[in-house]
Amino acid sequence: MNAPVKHSADAATVEEGLAIQEEQARFDDDFATETAMSNTLLTPRFYTTDFDELDAIDVSPVREDWDKLIAQMVSDPNKGHFKKNEDWDHVDWDGMDPALKKEFIDFLISSCTAEFSGCVLYKEMKRRGNNDDIVQLFQLMARDEARHAGFINDALREAGLRVNLGFLTQSKKYTYFRPKFIYYATYLSEKIGYARYITIFRHLEANPEHRFHPIFKWFEEWCNDEFSHGEAFALLMKTDPRLTSGKNVFWIKFFLTAVYATMYVRDHQRPAFHKALGVDPDWYAHEVFTKTSELTKQIFPITLNIDHPRWQRTLEALHRANVQIARAKTRGGLGGKLSQMAGSARAAWCFASLYTIPAKKHRVPASTRLEPVY
Ligand SMILES: [Fe+2]
Ligand SMILES: [Fe+2]
Repeated sequence: MNAPVKHSADAATVEEGLAIQEEQARFDDDFATETAMSNTLLTPRFYTTDFDELDAIDVSPVREDWDKLIAQMVSDPNKGHFKKNEDWDHVDWDGMDPALKKEFIDFLISSCTAEFSGCVLYKEMKRRGNNDDIVQLFQLMARDEARHAGFINDALREAGLRVNLGFLTQSKKYTYFRPKFIYYATYLSEKIGYARYITIFRHLEANPEHRFHPIFKWFEEWCNDEFSHGEAFALLMKTDPRLTSGKNVFWIKFFLTAVYATMYVRDHQRPAFHKALGVDPDWYAHEVFTKTSELTKQIFPITLNIDHPRWQRTLEALHRANVQIARAKTRGGLGGKLSQMAGSARAAWCFASLYTIPAKKHRVPASTRLEPVY
C-alpha cells in the first residue's frame, strides 16, 4: 500500500510544508511563476532585513501577552484546515466568464505571492536567529504562511496553473527594509489582510449566491492566522516605545497611506472580480480601511482620516493615473513614454495629497492585545 501523499495543510513546520510543495513543483506553470516574479509598485514584493537587529529584541516588557500569544499559536488550531474537503465545490473554470477568470487568476497569483513573501521573510529570520523567542515566533508564522500559499496553489492547479515557490525564493528580487520598516509594513499587511478576508467572508456568508469559488469558505480561519501574526508584530513594536513615537510617526503615516492607496488601486484593477462577488470596490475599500484603522489603534498613535473630503476624491484620481500609466505602457513609443511620465507625475502628486491630509491622533492603550471580533 502506498503511503498517502502528505498535504501542506498537515505540515507541522515550514520546512515540511515547503518540501511537500517542492515535490509538486514539476507541475509548475511558467505563466503563474512569471506573473509572481514581476516587481512593480503594485505587485507583492519579497523582503530582506537586518536579521541581527531583529534577533536582538528582548520581549520581556511584553512577556505575559507574548507567552499567551505563542501558546495559542503552538496549539495550532488550523492544522489540517487548509486543504480541499467535501466543502470544496466543483469549479467550472471553462465556463467562467473570461474577464472574471483572468482577474480571479491574477488575484490568486498575487495572493499566493504575498503569502509566500511572508513565508520567505519569516523563515529566513527563523534560520538566522539565536533568540529563542524570536526564532519560535518566526517559525510559527512561516509555518502558517507556507500552508496559506500551498492552499492557493491547490486552487490554481485546478485551473492548470501553479506558482513555483522554490524558483521564486531563488530568483525573485528582494527589497531591503530596515527592521522598523519591516514592522510597520508587515504589521499593516497582516492586519489589512485580516480585514480584507473577514469582510469578504462576512459578505459571502450573507450573500452565498455570490460565492463563485469555494476558497472563500476558508477565509475565516485564514484571517484568524493573519490576525495572530499582526498581534505578534504589535507586541514586537510595543517592546520599544520609540518605534511608535517622535519622527517615526511620520513613517507610520507613510506606510498607512502607501498600504491603503496600493490596495485601492490594485482592487480597482479587478472590476469583474468584484462584480462577481457582489461587492462595490469603493464600499469594500472603505470598510477594510475602517476595520484596519480600528485595529491599528492598538499600537499606532494616529489613524488616517479616511472621511476627509480629499481622501476618496484623491484615491479616484490615483486610480485614473494608474490606468493612464498602464495604457501608456501598452501603447509604447515616444507618445506612450510621455504619457507614462505624465501619469507617474499625477500619481506622485495624488500620493502627496493623500499623505498631507491631517491624521487623527489618539492615545495608545497600555496593553496591545486584541481578539478578532469582526
Ligand atoms: Fe497568510
Ligand atoms: Fe500572515
